[in-house]
This record gives sequence, C-alpha cells and structure tokens, in this order.
Amino acid sequence: MTETDWTWVYEGYAPERESLRESLCTLGNGYFATRGAASECAADGVHYPGTYVAGCYNRLTSTVAGRRVENEDLVNLPNWLVLRYRVNGGGRPGPWLVPGGRSMAGHRQILDLRQGTLERVTRYEDDQGRRLAVRQHRLVHMADPHLAALRTVFTAENWSGTLEVEAALDGSVENTGVARYRQLATRHLIHVHTGDAAPATVWLRCRTSTSDIRIGMASRTTAPVDGVSHHPGRRTVQRFRLELEQGRAAVVDKTVALHTSHDPAISDPLHAAVDRVRRAGPFETLLSSHRAAWQQLWRRAELEVADEAGRILRLHLFHVLQTLSPHTADLDVGVPARGLHGEAYRGHIFWDELFVLPYLNLHFPEVSRALLTYRHRRLERARFAALDEGCTGAMYPWQSGSDGREEAQRLHLNPRSGRWVPDHSHLQHHVGSAIAYNVWQYCEASGDSEFLHTKGAEMLLQIARFYACRATHDPALGRYRIRGVVGPDEYHDAYPGAAEPGLDDNAYTNVTAAWVLGRTLDLLRSLPEPRRQELVERTGLHHTELELWEDVSRMLHVPFHDGVISQFEGFGELAEFDWEGHRRRFGDIRRLDRILEAEGDSVNRYKASKQADVLMLGYLFSPAELRALFSRLGYVLDEETWRRTVDYYLHRTSHGSTLSGLVHGWVLARVRRSEAWRFCREALEGDIADVQGGTTGEGIHLGAMAGTLDLVQRGLTGLETRGGALRLDPVPLPELSEFCFTLRYRGHWGVRLRVAPGGMHIAVPGSGRDPIDVELPERSVLVEPGEECELPLPAVDDWAPP
Ligand code: BGC
Repeated sequence: MTETDWTWVYEGYAPERESLRESLCTLGNGYFATRGAASECAADGVHYPGTYVAGCYNRLTSTVAGRRVENEDLVNLPNWLVLRYRVNGGGRPGPWLVPGGRSMAGHRQILDLRQGTLERVTRYEDDQGRRLAVRQHRLVHMADPHLAALRTVFTAENWSGTLEVEAALDGSVENTGVARYRQLATRHLIHVHTGDAAPATVWLRCRTSTSDIRIGMASRTTAPVDGVSHHPGRRTVQRFRLELEQGRAAVVDKTVALHTSHDPAISDPLHAAVDRVRRAGPFETLLSSHRAAWQQLWRRAELEVADEAGRILRLHLFHVLQTLSPHTADLDVGVPARGLHGEAYRGHIFWDELFVLPYLNLHFPEVSRALLTYRHRRLERARFAALDEGCTGAMYPWQSGSDGREEAQRLHLNPRSGRWVPDHSHLQHHVGSAIAYNVWQYCEASGDSEFLHTKGAEMLLQIARFYACRATHDPALGRYRIRGVVGPDEYHDAYPGAAEPGLDDNAYTNVTAAWVLGRTLDLLRSLPEPRRQELVERTGLHHTELELWEDVSRMLHVPFHDGVISQFEGFGELAEFDWEGHRRRFGDIRRLDRILEAEGDSVNRYKASKQADVLMLGYLFSPAELRALFSRLGYVLDEETWRRTVDYYLHRTSHGSTLSGLVHGWVLARVRRSEAWRFCREALEGDIADVQGGTTGEGIHLGAMAGTLDLVQRGLTGLETRGGALRLDPVPLPELSEFCFTLRYRGHWGVRLRVAPGGMHIAVPGSGRDPIDVELPERSVLVEPGEECELPLPAVDDWAPP
C-alpha cells in the first residue's frame, strides 16, 4: 500500500472549493469535530471554521414569511483554531497573512487518514521578496476526546526579523454555515467570558442561550518567547513577537481542551478544560497517543479494496469513525445525517442510521448500542407524539435533536424561487421501522439478547403498536391501509391538487410496518416468560391487540400498477415526467422539486421520485426475505415482478439524495449487474465530487459514506446475520470483485473475509467461543475458532446474467 492510499493531498488554493475541502478535511473524534478551516481566517463567505460537540443543541425562534418558527441547531462552538501572523518590517506591522491573500506563493494541504492529522504548508512572499514558510499540523485527539492541538512552524527563508503571532479563542462565532438558513436567528452563545490561567493559558466560557449548556475551553500556547494576553470582546487573544532567524524554524504549539456541562465526571466545564490543558503533554506526546488510538481503530475496521474505490472507501470510513467513534458509546447522541462536519440539516438525526448501524454492528457494536439507546431514551417522547396524533404506541420524529421531539421544519426555503414553502416531511413515519430494523440487526449481529429483551423489545413493541393503530381497515379492499404519509421519496407529499398533505399506502412504509409487526410478534413469543410478563404488564398489552397485529401484519395493502409495485396508491395515475426536456432546459435536475416549484408547477403531479423508495425494500431485505414478506402479505413477488419494478423506478428517479445512488447500486448488483457500477460510483463520489451540487461544504453525507462501506461488507457479499448464522450470497461486481475486511461477530473479534474471483476465504481467530455457522445458498459449514476455510465461488463472468 502506498502512502497515497492513506493521504488526500490538495494542491493550491481555490476559494470556490474551500468549503468542500473544509468539510472533507474535518477532524473529529466522535465527541467533537472541527472543520478543516484555515486557522488564519474567521467566517468570511469563503472560510467557515466550525466546531461541533455531538449532541450540543440550542433552540432559537425566528420570524419568516410572517410566521414564528422555532429551530433547534447543533451549535457552532467557539473557534479554537485561530492562529494568525504578520511580518513586522521596520517597526511597522505588515498585513495579516492569509491563504489566498496577495502574498501567498504556494499552498498544499494533506489529510493523513492513518494518523488522523491535517497538515498544511503555505508559503508567502511579500513585496520586498521576503519568503516565509508556514507548516501547520493539527489533530483532534482520538484517545482523549476533549483535546485538540495545532503545531505551527514558521521559517523565514531568506530574511531575519520579527513575526507577530496571535493565537485566540473566538466566542463571537454564530451558526451561519448554511446560506439558506441565514435569515433565521443564528446567535446561540451567550455569557461569553474570557480570562487567563497561568502559565501561557487562556480560557473562554459561555453557555447556549436556551438549552443552557455551559461550555469551557482552555488554550495553552507555547512559543520561543512568552506572549501577552488580552481579551477583546468575545475573544481571548495571546500575542507573541517571534524573532525569526533566517532558515531557523520557530515552533508555536497550541493545545486546546473543550468540555461542556453534559460531560460526565466533571463539576464545571471550565475548570475541567483548564485542568485538562494544564496536564496535557507536549505536542509530540499528544501526536503519538493520537496515532496509537487511530491505529487501533484501523485494526478494528480493517478494509482493503483495490484502487481508487479503496481510497475513497477509506476516506468514508475515516469520516464515519470521526463522527461515531468508540467515544460515542459513552454519549447520549444519535447519528447526525451530515456528520459533525457542518450545519446542514442543523445537525439533526433522521432515518439515516439505517445506512450506518449495519456497518457499525459488525465492528463497533457498543457504538450501535449507544445509538439505539439514544432512541430508547426518547421512546417516551415518541409515545407522546403518537398520543398527540390520537394513536397508541411510539411515533418517532422524522428529525430528532436533543429531546426527541419532532424537529422537522414546517416551512423551508426554496433558494431557487426565494419562497418559503410548506414542508410535510414530518409525515415520514417510516423512521420507526428504520429504528426497529436496526434494533433487530444489531441484536442479530452482536447476539446481545439482553438489549433485545429489554430496551429493544420496548421499542419494537411501541413502534409496532403505532403502526397497528395507524392502519385502518378498508372493507372495500378487505385490507388495512396506512394513509396520509410521506415515503422515503420526499418529493411526493400530497396528491395533485389535494387540500391535505400525505399519500396513502406507501409501499415501503406498509411492507416495513408489516415486517415490524411480524418481528415483534416473533420476539414476544420468544421472550423469557418473566420478561414477557413484565412487558405485558408495563405496557398493558392485551391479547386482542396481538390478534390485531397478526391480522395487520398479514393484511396491509401493497398497491401495484402495470405489473409493478406502486410507490403509493395512485402513483400509476400521475403524469409521466419529461426527463429529457427538463434536462435540456435545466441541466442538473436532481432537485427537481425546487425547479418545478420555482416554475409554478409541482413534482406531486409526476411519476418522478427524489430517491429510491420502493427499491429500498431490496436494500433492506435479501431477495428470499422479501419474497417471504410479500407472501405473508398475500402477494406473489416473483423475480420478474421485482425486476420490472426495479426498471420502472430506475427510469423515474432524479437521485436528489446521496442515498439514492447507493441503494440503486446495491439493488442493481443483484438484478442488473452491468448497470450497478454506475450507481456505486456515484455513491462513492457523492462527497469527494460534491455530486449534490454544493451540499458537501455544509457537511458530509454520513449515511451514504457508511452505506458504501456496507455495500462492500453486506451488499456485495450478501452477508446477513440471521437466525444465528452468518449467511453469504456474494455478487461481486467486475469493478469490485476483490476485497477483504474483518468483522466482529457475536463476540468473535477479527473474523476475516476475503473475496476474490473464484473464491471466498473465511478465517476465524482462535478463542474459546462457539464455531460460526456459515451458510451459503448451496451449502453450510461450521468454522471453528482458529480455523479457516475456502469456499469456491463461480467466476464473476459466470454469474447468472440478469
Ligand atoms: C433525504 C432523506 C435523508 C435526509 C438526511 C434528505 O435529502 O431525502 O432521506 O434522511 O436527506 O440525510
């Protein structure tokens, strides 16, 4: 493996690409993350230094379009990066030097995934020909999640003289990272206070305005000379006058500690931060313990895929681990859709965990468990939400933040038309089945029956109960229907011209609801009797309710038209969309909701979806499982119908979400292998090439990133952890036919799976645990700990053609 497999190098400086780079060069450790912004610059339209602590939200009220709206945001915390410098020539200070400024002579940025560091080399040359090289290394500590460090090395290449350096903590920051939110209230931090703590250490404390989270930050800066501090406004600044000697490097090290009042085992965040920074070792020591922590992570998440795909997958893994690391296991947080990398979607938690947990389950099950526990802690809130709708059970919110109430906005800005339009995305009740699916998957992969029988069962039961209550019996159809919802395709939120939002019988919602009901019934039957009794008593579960669940789980309506599954009842009657005509007119039409709204039209009129909706079923369930599910519902889903359905939606989807390419690639790998790679590629390039046009700069797409890892891990191997066995049914793509990864499966650490043309190799490390039952379509084997086995596979080209 060459070094370039582990490094992403950005040559030169391009202001228009800076926000994308900042997102992709974000460093984090699961507790907090900081965008890869230049330390010399404040938020100025090009740069956007953002620091976010997982779960640190604040709620503000704004007035838009004559209405008061409340939004909860992941708060941009004080900027700890600040470090700027200027040459003092002839007693007069020159301008502050900034990347992209007039005197910049070179710029190079290197993200080192193996070490978890960001390095930057910027060279300046002023009017008098004085050359200054600035090399900066930063880390957000992976072993001590409250620490970060910045080493800056200055070299005056052809002169000697004074360099003025300022290191600061800046509490004047606001949440202004997303242009379309800027009309809303942005100032979340209040009571900003600053001060000194000897030696060479300054501090800043503040609190969030309504959630009242106290934040403490301390910064220790060491330089060849002592500095002086002052505290202007909401900032604390240390200033140094370095006497540079030609050719001799001068090092300035800034070490920062960050705590909030949410942290356990502290009494006061400021005191904790000051104490931590005082005890922190020098930069070299921090770097070495940081590297060691990353080395361990890379061992636990080993993934080898050749060529460019492998390089991108490693970057995706890096960002997943920076957002959800083993530290996350100690936090009360969910899966933020855009990582801790920016402010898009306000740091909220959607159903995207459906694309993330299946990956984590097989490497960091303790992290999955914590993320599910976040949902369990908000079960009561979800029950209140159901009650408010006149339902029993738990209605989880489409967007969740600190306390689990619905955070989805009711109005959103179409930047294309400048209009605020109603937002009905909260009608996406399929988020409940995503949570249930994850509970099930996590427990199957980890064997954690304790979780399944306690918190897991409680969530499943209440989610199932909600679906059963939400379903109404239609005597004419002789089936149950779930009406007035929005499916994963958010472009359709109402029937054309309807006064009320919502659609009936979204196939994805109904089929997954049937699955939840069926699974919950299975689980209730298999619970240890004392526990079953407890649950029944606590939830007032009556046997008539179970009978209803059984009935609903078998009789939910799934609409069909023209021999394909309908996305919802009536989809087949919508108008065909003129894809080519719109492409010619508008170019990129991924966001055709915005295009049509700006034209005074509505996407609700057309057979045009934002993202995989029906096809999501092929993402969640193996072909056999999906067939069985439909059959339980009284429908025949033969291969031909599924193929036709895939084809149908393939031609009617605009891929306005990064999740769409991923799901299509996954599904097509089984149905139309020759077309799968195009979508897998799109999913791989989603963030590095900013496929959704400017959105990565506002935060990475964590679901798609983790999803691509899982595409290799489960999609191409057909890996399922079902019924206590490890099932495999590989479909490697010609472009991705050789790969290797390790898994943690039911207490076996480091199970290694290698897929290559012609064969699959499984090695189970020695231990006192039970053998692993490996099931392939044609055979099954028991692999004992300490043993390995080779399973022949047909060559890629011999795979049954579609
Ligand atoms: C997608 C949703 C997703 C959300 C957050 C939206 O664009 O349509 O499916 O949950 O982004 O990633």
